[in-house]
Amino acid sequence: MNTEGLFDNHGRPINYLRLAVTDRCNLRCFYCMPEEGIKYLPKKLLLSFEEIERLVTLMAQMGITKIRLTGGEPFVRTDLMDLIRKIITIPGIQDLHLTTNGILTAPHIPELKALGITSVNLSLDTLDRERFQTITRRDEFEATWKSLELLQQHDIPVKINTVVMEGKNIEDLHALVDLTRHKNISVRFIEEMPFNGGDTHYQKLNWTYHRILSHIKEKYPELIKVQDPANSTAYHYQVPGFAGTVGIIAAFSRTFCGTCNRIRVTAQGTLKTCLYDEGVLDVKKLLRGNFSNEEIKIELMKAFQQRPKDGFEAENKRMVTSANESMSTIGG
Ligand code: GTP
Ligand code: 5AD
Ligand code: SF4
Repeated sequence: MNTEGLFDNHGRPINYLRLAVTDRCNLRCFYCMPEEGIKYLPKKLLLSFEEIERLVTLMAQMGITKIRLTGGEPFVRTDLMDLIRKIITIPGIQDLHLTTNGILTAPHIPELKALGITSVNLSLDTLDRERFQTITRRDEFEATWKSLELLQQHDIPVKINTVVMEGKNIEDLHALVDLTRHKNISVRFIEEMPFNGGDTHYQKLNWTYHRILSHIKEKYPELIKVQDPANSTAYHYQVPGFAGTVGIIAAFSRTFCGTCNRIRVTAQGTLKTCLYDEGVLDVKKLLRGNFSNEEIKIELMKAFQQRPKDGFEAENKRMVTSANESMSTIGG
């Protein structure tokens, strides 16, 4: 185990790996992929669970302590629980989190609790069944809601992710804040990013962090700023007397890069040292090639020592300037 910690070339600690276990999803959220879906990777191009276990073990030895499993929808990989059971026992891994849309999650919640999952982030953009269907192109609101209730019953910390979208869910924002009145959850409003698998590329974003905040304050002028956890992507607020908190994630404005502690491995096994880069190392090739663990760690370390200082530098360095990937492949 690494006791000194892992740092990048800007002196930022790296201890958080976001791992996309699949690019497949059972929803078609329009901010993430086109209606017809994206061209999914053939299964053999996804990392196998054995490969993931080896990679996480190596990264844990280097200093990674926190893992977040993402997708696509992670539970579309039907044996996901096998992977979770393995990862949770890897020496050095202290926290395991999941980001899920909740549709297939409910049956696994008791075991997630028993295994000691740290928290679950649920994607939920509206509280209205019809708008849910318009945004996700599937009629699955009830399933997500059931997972939220079960997570709470099992006392698993929950954060809700709401992408803020002009003309799609602005009428939901106040109701979502109101969810925190009695529920001890964090509802986070996220600036929309241009990773929708299409060719929309924002130069200007309508619903920025500041506009979202002003909009919330129109209904809740008493909103107060509360302390953010270390390395948080969200700026946290609370309505006094409410049980939960409200967060705003300036994902497009990228105001939190100075404390960025995370790296990503995409569904096809590519390392990203920033969400906005186009992939800096083919990890799958290393895992499938004739490379020793030490050789793989050296290559990872080289990549960690060439991190862009922020998401703007990462975006500028892309060969293909328009970021037209789907969030489903990147893993969020
Ligand atoms: P915790 O901080 O562990 O709760 O997780 P998180 O908020 O990073 O994870 P989650 O998967 O719930 O992501 C919430 C939103 O934040 C998504 O839209 C992510 O794409 C975005 N996000 C997460 N990490 C980054 C990042 O490093 N940079 C940017 N720009 N956005 C990020
Ligand atoms: N912009 C911002 N956030 C997005 N997510 C997915 N696509 C986008 C996008 N284009 C969020 C979802 C999910 C998280 C991992 O990423 O809300 O919860
Ligand atoms: Fe980190 Fe890049 Fe996100 Fe900034 S945009 S917080 S550098 S991943």
